[in-house]
Amino acid sequence: MLHVLTHPLAAHALTHLRDRTTKPATFRTLAHQLGLLLALESTRDLPTRAQTVDTPLEPHSGQVLAHGLVAVPILRAGLGLVQPYLDLFPDVAVGYVGLERDHQTAVARSYYRKLPPLAGKRVLCLDPMLATGGSAVQALDLLREAGATDLALVVIVAAPEGVAAVEAAHPTVQIYTAVLDRELNAQKYILPGLGDFGDRLYGT
Ligand code: PRP
Ligand code: URA
Repeated sequence: MLHVLTHPLAAHALTHLRDRTTKPATFRTLAHQLGLLLALESTRDLPTRAQTVDTPLEPHSGQVLAHGLVAVPILRAGLGLVQPYLDLFPDVAVGYVGLERDHQTAVARSYYRKLPPLAGKRVLCLDPMLATGGSAVQALDLLREAGATDLALVVIVAAPEGVAAVEAAHPTVQIYTAVLDRELNAQKYILPGLGDFGDRLYGT
């Protein structure tokens, strides 16, 4: 199931994020803004439980979040989506998965993994670019192996090829994206896209 942001601020931030003249500092700010919108969208259905508090005037039966949340950025570009979750969910646990696409083959190689307990938590895999889907499928595979049952993927730009790959390998995983782009080019970069997200985020 694909969820695409419809907020006008998402369209505004994306246009500037795509602009080749946008410098890394502004790029990081725009990515953070999109991350906040995605963090809200990807947690809209989080379960809550009743909790009674005393207001200064009387007892009140309210709702609080029922389960923990785990954010797992795919290094390195996924780091650009972590802070929005930390801003909105102070109790979020953060795990890390390191994957890097080979520039010739576009096949991702795993080089790092550090995960907190995942069972019983909403696990959000964060990676701004969903191109062939190879990195996301690998990351979701290993999150499932590590015990995640309630899994979602959060990206900023998705290509139809990547969405199809994730839906084929992980049909129950919800995908949240700011935009669904047109296609991949011969080098497996997203069109119109925004280039290499990690390079633009970190000025490399
Ligand atoms: C980019 C991006 C995704 C991957 C998407 O990472 O952040 O992880 O490519 O491509 P795919 O869907 O075809 O797998 P990259 O491998 O360039 O590493 P980086 O984050 O370290 O820049
Ligand atoms: N990774 C990126 O950073 N950009 C793309 O267009 C594809 C993969």
